[in-house]
Amino acid sequence: MNAMTKTKGTQVLPLNTILAGDCIEQMNSLPAESVDLIFADPPYNLQLRGDLHRPDNSRVDAVDDHWDQFASFQVYDDFTRAWLKAAHRLLKPNGAIWVIGSYHNIFRVGASLQDAGYWILNDVVWRKSNPMPNFRGKRFTNAHETMIWASKSEGAKYTFNYEALKALNEGIQMRSDWVLPICNGGERLKDANGDKAHPTQKPMSLLHRVLVGSTNPGDVVLDPFFGTGTTGAVAKMLGRDWIGIEREESYREVATRRIADVRAFDRSALEVTRAKRAEPRVPFGQLVERGMLSPGETLVSPTGKIARVRADGTLVGDGVKGSIHQVGAHLEGAPSCNGWTYWQFRKDGKTVPIDVLRQQIRAEMADRA
Ligand SMILES: C[S@@+](CC[C@H](N)C(=O)[O-])C[C@H]1O[C@@H](n2cnc3c(N)ncnc32)[C@H](O)[C@@H]1O
Repeated sequence: MNAMTKTKGTQVLPLNTILAGDCIEQMNSLPAESVDLIFADPPYNLQLRGDLHRPDNSRVDAVDDHWDQFASFQVYDDFTRAWLKAAHRLLKPNGAIWVIGSYHNIFRVGASLQDAGYWILNDVVWRKSNPMPNFRGKRFTNAHETMIWASKSEGAKYTFNYEALKALNEGIQMRSDWVLPICNGGERLKDANGDKAHPTQKPMSLLHRVLVGSTNPGDVVLDPFFGTGTTGAVAKMLGRDWIGIEREESYREVATRRIADVRAFDRSALEVTRAKRAEPRVPFGQLVERGMLSPGETLVSPTGKIARVRADGTLVGDGVKGSIHQVGAHLEGAPSCNGWTYWQFRKDGKTVPIDVLRQQIRAEMADRA
């Protein structure tokens, strides 16, 4: 099997490809339960009435494209419900979806998501650090968009790389308001006339956070409204497989060229910080079995307490026998104790936490995987 296809039953999943045509028809042609994540940036149905001008009378390059126009809210809702249904069928049971929108459509999309069986996990506000001003001065500057993140169903075991997101945020828990600039400068794709190649190109930083936070390398990410292929470009960089669907040929061409120029990061750079509980369990006894610690060896605590290692992977200290956690808790008179960080052994005249030995075993396990 090569990187371009993955089979599911008798059906083939066309990986790292842009499919031409209507997203509902295309999604219905793909195998059910085959995709880990969907990122969707659908038409917003902006309902623009007439041209928008700046105070100097120059025309604002607003989104007035035919693909963003719907005859009524009812028509928009019918379209939304149809593509959300097709997307739901495609997702693996533990898959998830992100949908981005503005005040024009996001409330309608939210209700449709819930009606279609998805389970909303968060709404994330993308606060634009450099929004377009409100030219008429009649409303607030529209400085954010909203993303809804939802699992396929209530209780699904969706991917959330909590520790990786925290690491991205300099060790502070990632909040649901993200301050990121809109897409401009060198990242903004231009056509042959130097005009924007697409009116609503999303910034790569947004997709970077979404994909690092809610997918793993090797996952399949589908974007049914591919546009310039921002999702595909970031997925490729991050070692995720992607599938794009786009109706307009000119956008497909832009996206194809763009993604061809993207270089995937080195595999080792794609490893992200994992939650402790997601790391493989290593029993303390394994350190003894493997001769990293010997029966009879003394362990010390930062407070100077002492225990001896026994052949069965238990400790004895102050006449009490038990696990590294139980003996540590007893010696400290505490209700609980993390023995891995509490106990230290002596090596070359220094004391080293026994957790270092556990990490060594985990690193070997990861190399073998
Ligand atoms: C909001 S834009 C997506 C922009 C994209 N996220 C980017 O960064 O370039 C929506 C895209 O969906 C496409 N589109 C609209 N309706 C569609 C449909 N029914 N099937 C496939 N593509 C569609 C439009 O042509 C447009 O490029």
